[in-house]
This record gives sequence, C-alpha cells and structure tokens, in this order.
Amino acid sequence: MAVPLSTPAEPEAVAPERELEQLEIELLLEAIFRRYGLDFRQYAQASLKRRLYRRMHAEGLETLSELQNRLLHDPPCMERLLVDLSINVTSMFRDPTFYLTFREQVVPMLRTYPFTRIWCAGCSTGEEVYSLAILLQEEDVYARTRIYATDINEHVLQTARAGVFPLDRMKQYTQNYIRAGGKGDFSEYYTAAYDSVAFSRALTENVVFAQHNLAMDRSFNEFNVIVCRNVMIYFDKALQDHVHTLFYESLETFGILALGHKESINFTRYAGRYEEIDVDERIYRKVA
Ligand SMILES: C[S@@+](CC[C@H](N)C(=O)[O-])C[C@H]1O[C@@H](n2cnc3c(N)ncnc32)[C@H](O)[C@@H]1O
Repeated sequence: MAVPLSTPAEPEAVAPERELEQLEIELLLEAIFRRYGLDFRQYAQASLKRRLYRRMHAEGLETLSELQNRLLHDPPCMERLLVDLSINVTSMFRDPTFYLTFREQVVPMLRTYPFTRIWCAGCSTGEEVYSLAILLQEEDVYARTRIYATDINEHVLQTARAGVFPLDRMKQYTQNYIRAGGKGDFSEYYTAAYDSVAFSRALTENVVFAQHNLAMDRSFNEFNVIVCRNVMIYFDKALQDHVHTLFYESLETFGILALGHKESINFTRYAGRYEEIDVDERIYRKVA
C-alpha cells in the first residue's frame, strides 16, 4: 500500500517556519533593546507580531530580518515603529462609570490627606490626565494634588503637554463627562479655534509630564493613587508581574490602584494585598 508522503511532511515544514519567525522576532526585539534601550521583549506576542508585520510592509520590506537591519541603521524607522507599538488610543472620560466611581469612592479618601500624589502611568496623549484634573478641580482637591503623568513615548507626551485636541471629539467627550458625573459645563474647560480646542492651562498647573518606561525604569516617588488603565493588556504575564511589583512598591499603605476594565489584580501575587473598592471599575486599595 502506498504511503501518502505529503501528509506527515506538512506539519514538519510548518514548524521550522514558525521557529524561524520566532527567532527573527526575538533577534529583532533584542536588537531594538541593545541599540535603543527600549525593551519590548515581554510584550504580548500576538499583537506585537501584527504590528511588526504592519511596519515591515509599510517600509516595503519582505522579512523581519530586513526590518531589523533597517531599524538598526535608521533611527526614524525606529520612531515609526515606536508609534505602531505603543498603541495610543485614548479618550476623555473613557469608561465614564470609572470616573463616576472614582468621584464617589476615591475622592472622599483623598479629602482626608493634606496632599495627594497621583501617578498616571501610560497616559498617552493626556486625555486621561485632563479628565482627572477636571474631576479633582470640581471636587475641590486639585489644589493639593500633584499628578505625575508618564508614558514611554515622547511624541504622545508632547501632545499631552500642549493639551490641544480635535474639536470633532468634543461631542463624545461632553457626553462622557456628563455620564462621569461632571458638575459644570464641559465647554468651559477649553477654547476652540478652527478645528482644534486648547484646554485650560490651569488644568496642568499641578501636572508633571515625563517619559517613563514601565518595563525598565524604577519608581520615582511614593504615591497615594496609581492610575494605569489599558496599558498592561499589551504586556505578557511576566511583564505584568514586574509592573505590579513596581506599583505595589510605589504605593503607600491604603493607596489606590486603578486599572482598566480588561485588567485585574486577580491572579497576580499581589491579589491578597489589595482589597476591592469597586470590582467592575477595577479600583483596589493596598491593605497589606
Ligand atoms: C492604550 S494607551 C492607554 C492610555 C490611557 N491610559 C487610557 O486608558 O486611555 C496605552 C499607552 O501605554 C503606553 N505604554 C506602552 N508601553 C509602555 C511602557 N513600557 N511604559 C510606559 N508606557 C507604555 C503607550 O505609549 C500608550 O500611550
């Protein structure tokens, strides 16, 4: 009886391809780390791979090894990849119920402190920071608060510092603001010119914007609140654990940790060290 040779041969052919691809990815990430000091080696694989291929095609290249070569010799190409990798999607009062809960559950705790330090990690273009500043101002605690707003990507921080956002997003942001329990008239926080709006400078008076890489940099203060939403979803488990350690060590006892809707403290080794303030909104308090 004839044995069909092609059937068992196929999986064997696919496996070396995958191994080769994996090797190319690992070498490329190692090259980025050694050349630029940027560590993406522990980012979740599926979305990382998609973005590397997207950049490879956009640069008109055929293989990941070619992309590695270009990245090593062409820093502007690295800048472009950085924009691809550090998915910056954000909005003002994103997930309004989070801000509503923050207003109702966290602000009363902040009132008991003479001064509050908040770390907004992975703040992207700053919409989250302006939202927090508005909320804190309306609750009369902004004057005794400092917000440290950080991101790995200097480009997005430049936008955040400028506080200028597209006018056409204001309708959605106004609705979010109202659903987040906003107490004023949202349009009073900005002035419109042509197709942009500039947010009031008063909102960033107590904000420090700085570049900080959660994968590599250390803590730089002790905080009463850490807000890190929709950032760790891009990290693998080991990097998430690393960042949770960083946050645990950076938070004062009874400090608040706020994560994104798809993130959780469960299944980390710090699960038992926090109590849940609001399980749906992923707001936790360090208790041990
Ligand atoms: C999807 S945005 C989230 C923005 C905002 N926190 C929000 O929820 O709307 C993720 C941000 O995390 C930043 N980021 C990714 N990796 C980082 C790292 N290792 N250290 C600091 N920020 C990082 C990206 O640059 C991006 O701006």
